[in-house]
Amino acid sequence: MILIDGKATAAALKEEVRIKVLDAAARVGRAPHLAVIRVGEDPASVVYVRNKEKACDVTGIRNTTIVLPEETTEEALLAKVQELNRDPLVDGILVQLPLPRHISESKVIETIAMEKDVDGFHPLNVAGLWQKTPHVSPCTPKGIMKLLEVAGVDPKGKRAVVIGRSNIVGLPAAKMLLDANATVTMCHTRTANLADETRRAEILVVAAGKAKMITADMVSPGAVVIDVGMDRDPETGKLCGDVDFEGVAPKAYAITPVPGGVGPMTIACLMENTLECYLRRTEAR
Ligand code: GUN
Repeated sequence: MILIDGKATAAALKEEVRIKVLDAAARVGRAPHLAVIRVGEDPASVVYVRNKEKACDVTGIRNTTIVLPEETTEEALLAKVQELNRDPLVDGILVQLPLPRHISESKVIETIAMEKDVDGFHPLNVAGLWQKTPHVSPCTPKGIMKLLEVAGVDPKGKRAVVIGRSNIVGLPAAKMLLDANATVTMCHTRTANLADETRRAEILVVAAGKAKMITADMVSPGAVVIDVGMDRDPETGKLCGDVDFEGVAPKAYAITPVPGGVGPMTIACLMENTLECYLRRTEAR
């Protein structure tokens, strides 16, 4: 069984980004600059944003984190985003989700300039992915494809099953697997007889947000299992994935652990996206 090391793969990708940043900064005269906005004190968001700051430090990307109070109005947040859109010295803009309920996430995402949308969430970037025109790719699905590559798994001709249909992970991951010539089945927590689908998977991507929902009996021997879950084990309170790792790992050809699998790749791909946005902007000028 191959344990897919997301932490090491992410470190290698960040090192590649660091070298490219160093080289490009010497030509452009400044490093790439990522602006991150956090609204409120959601504990998970605090951790995610801190990890983004650390990754910027490691890669030599300049980071500005803007923390706004929970009561910030939608109008004020949109104005802040527009200010960053106009700032020629900002290359990437990320607004940490989820946002407080009184703020429309879709309005915020639509307001971020497409060319600075390092998350790849803007409707025009989403359209670009689905229509195969230039776009920024969303970080987590991009990270998943890179992990398959390091595990030596070519999706071409394979049956891939994706559980989860979110805009952030499930839908774009299914599209990227399709573009890599897998045959893709899209499932979700309400799929009837889910185990019948998952047992057919040669590549199983799980992004359902349900602790340990994938048990050993749902996985066929030799499958490649990618666990995007970030859950708490209801018994131990420890961080765990959507896959029952102990049960599934012995059957799998390759599997990602939680933590240390997909999570670190999302952030490394965010650094790569920031570099790409900066290069596109500065080289176009
Ligand atoms: N919240 C959880 N994951 C993400 C992400 O990838 N981007 C943003 N902006 N917010 C998130």
